[in-house]
Amino acid sequence: MSNHRAVIILAAGHGSRMKSKLPKVLHEVGGRSMFDWLVALARDIGAQRIAAIVGTQTPMVKSRAVDLLGGGGVAVQEPQLGTGHATGFAKDIMDGFDGDVLVVFADSPLITKETIEQVFAVLQDGAAVAVVGFEPDEPGAYGRLVEDEHGNLQRIVEAKDASDAELAIRLCNSGVVAVNSRLLFSLLAEVKNDNANGEYYLTDIIAIARNRGLTAKAIRATPEEVLGVNSRVELAKAEQVFQSRSREQALENGVCLLAPDSVHFTFDTVLDADVVVEPNVVFGPGVIVKSGAIIRAFSHLEGARIDEDVVIGPYARIRPGTRVKGGAKVGNFVEIKKSTIREGAKVSHLSYIGDADVGANANIGAGTITCNYDGFDKYNTQIGDGAFIGSNSSLVAPVKIGDGAFVGSGSVITKDVSADGLAVARGRQKELTNWANEFRNKKGNS
Ligand code: UD1
Ligand code: CA
Repeated sequence: MSNHRAVIILAAGHGSRMKSKLPKVLHEVGGRSMFDWLVALARDIGAQRIAAIVGTQTPMVKSRAVDLLGGGGVAVQEPQLGTGHATGFAKDIMDGFDGDVLVVFADSPLITKETIEQVFAVLQDGAAVAVVGFEPDEPGAYGRLVEDEHGNLQRIVEAKDASDAELAIRLCNSGVVAVNSRLLFSLLAEVKNDNANGEYYLTDIIAIARNRGLTAKAIRATPEEVLGVNSRVELAKAEQVFQSRSREQALENGVCLLAPDSVHFTFDTVLDADVVVEPNVVFGPGVIVKSGAIIRAFSHLEGARIDEDVVIGPYARIRPGTRVKGGAKVGNFVEIKKSTIREGAKVSHLSYIGDADVGANANIGAGTITCNYDGFDKYNTQIGDGAFIGSNSSLVAPVKIGDGAFVGSGSVITKDVSADGLAVARGRQKELTNWANEFRNKKGNS
């Protein structure tokens, strides 16, 4: 019993049923890879040590694991002889660690902190091993949890090795196990591979612990929470569970979602209370929306901070590096990239604003384009406070429009405009009186 915690993440398989070049555990749920979800969970529960067990056939998983955990937190299991065999590879990483160890599979991204706290509580209550069980609609190939009449766990039997009576058990193994670190490796040392698969099963540590007179207990989680992803169908299901969790959480936090099922969240989406989100909005990674803002229908946002009382959309695209400050308005068919739109500014229609700083209360006319790219490099556009950019203007960066300046409609601005000046850069209008009449007469007469 202790408050020290460690987590072992098993991630050695390729996951061929995904039918993908990308290793299974790098597929994303809610915009974050399944492997990353488990590392985040481990950190969230205060793990002092985290070990990832990876295979040789998936170097991408290894490099992601090294990125997140450092080389010292990663072990390579080769060949792969089962979950017990895999867990044993964490021994060196756990050397000198004394506390509770949680073993999780990298393909179960939806497990919550609350459930893990329950698992550790079972150890605190004196059990030697704690397991997360669940009752799926179809127990199928899952391992079955065999409990005695006191509710103590006796053993876990894999479906392939189970009798008919055991197969009738509805309570299944999720794969999540917690056990004291020293006990874990001593139990694993006794695991054999005399089973239908010829593998070393982690699940065998339950019966081994029982034989030593120790107790094991199972807690119950919902099938959604412990969903294991083996195929694209299950990945889509996991995404669905993530999305509905996020929507519910947002509503509970005071966000107004007019059509919750049509709003797409990412793992780090932050919406304050009293944000209004209309139907069919996508939040990509890195979006923060402050109270009172309205995100209108069919808008797509990523990497952006939207401040108080801003209106975005409908049909707006907000790209990474964007900040829209209080009370500003970004209207329909407007794309904004890596720009700051300051307080009260308006970009209401059909514009592209990239690498720009738009001053407070500036008005950007319909169809205004910042020409920020020359095919090689990107350049900045600065638009001053209260400036007025006439419709259908091109601002060729680098360029600066001073505070309070006007740009005539249809201008192509290539030079800086001073504060309070007017710049017009287009052909001057001239008129040939009665020209059209004469033209028609000439054509009609010939
Ligand atoms: C496992 C459990 C089963 C449980 C089910 C839940 C065992 C013996 N069985 O079965 O009781 O109901 O999960 O989904 O534990 N792995 C390695 N190295 C290996 C083998 C596996 O790292 O040598 C990793 C895999 O990448 C995967 C996880 O361990 O992330 C589970 O392995 P898998 O083969 O999918 O186990 P199941 O047969 O599904
Ligand atoms: Ca599995």
